[in-house]
Amino acid sequence: MESDGFFQPAGEAVVKFNSNRNPDKDLPMNPLKGKSIVSLRDLSTDLLLLIIKKAAEVKKGMHEGCLAGKVLATLFFEPSTRTRLSFESAMRKMGGEVIGFTGTKFTSIEKGENLIDTIRVVSGYCDVIVMRHPLEGSARLASEVSSVPVINGGDGANQHPTQTFLDLFTISEYFGGFENLKVAFLGDLKYGRTVHSLAYALSMFGSKLYFVSPEILRFPDDLKEEVQQNGSEIFEFNDVEDVETEIDVLYVTRIQKERFGDIQEYRKVAGSYRVTPETVEKLGGKAIIMHPLPRVNEISPEVDKLENAIYFKQAHNGIFVRSALLGLVLGRINV
Ligand code: NCD
Repeated sequence: MESDGFFQPAGEAVVKFNSNRNPDKDLPMNPLKGKSIVSLRDLSTDLLLLIIKKAAEVKKGMHEGCLAGKVLATLFFEPSTRTRLSFESAMRKMGGEVIGFTGTKFTSIEKGENLIDTIRVVSGYCDVIVMRHPLEGSARLASEVSSVPVINGGDGANQHPTQTFLDLFTISEYFGGFENLKVAFLGDLKYGRTVHSLAYALSMFGSKLYFVSPEILRFPDDLKEEVQQNGSEIFEFNDVEDVETEIDVLYVTRIQKERFGDIQEYRKVAGSYRVTPETVEKLGGKAIIMHPLPRVNEISPEVDKLENAIYFKQAHNGIFVRSALLGLVLGRINV
């Protein structure tokens, strides 16, 4: 059994100690305890590495049952499969309970209740909230009025930090780190919140970033400046054909149709790129292929058979990473 100060190895003296112990008593130096997770901008590389380390422990079977007695509320104002279900599964697997809603149809929001009041009330019913909302900045606002930590499950086109944690965890399983990695992002770099969060995180480690997208879906200028200031070199292309470098990670995204103000603009770029086994060869043949999913038609099903196509493994890692994050935020996993 692990010895992390919470679950002690079996032994008479320890058992006695444990029986008197309040599991919510402060564990030494857990910097994420009680903290909301809103944006990558709030996190240091040390914290990212801590989440990855704890996710690896959860994957090995450690920390089981540590969330007993805790309640997670999942508030999803936008569609989700992976984020909501993996958070809910993580909470249950770790011994906790889940409440929540998907879509607002049967909630008081239909009666005109605003987000602030909803969060004020729900935070009295649970120990942690995971929220997905179409408005950029909504997670920050929720964290400011909530009496419990708020984890951003995606706020509009802005940020999706927990997807980034599982992306980083998956990359680290293959490469052991992020320094000097060459990571190509292909797809909707304008509206893709997973790209915004992951590129920011990788820039904190100094990875080289290759942005490949149609002209109207370019990575935003203000974010470009930020990732450069963090220390990343960046390169931009319209087409993977133009990338003349051997790439380590190819991160593909779908076009975020729901974020387009004008559907004609969407039609101009729909179907404009598609990854095939030849694309992988073109990038040196070694790149692992990642995608936050769902995919629409931007990866050909033939790519699924390649050993480097790891998007389903990546999605499954969400359970370990989200379990670890809940354990840390709720102060039930020690550093
Ligand atoms: C992503 C999202 O919601 O931003 N999905 C996910 O959480 N895995 C990506 C997307 O919807 O394209």
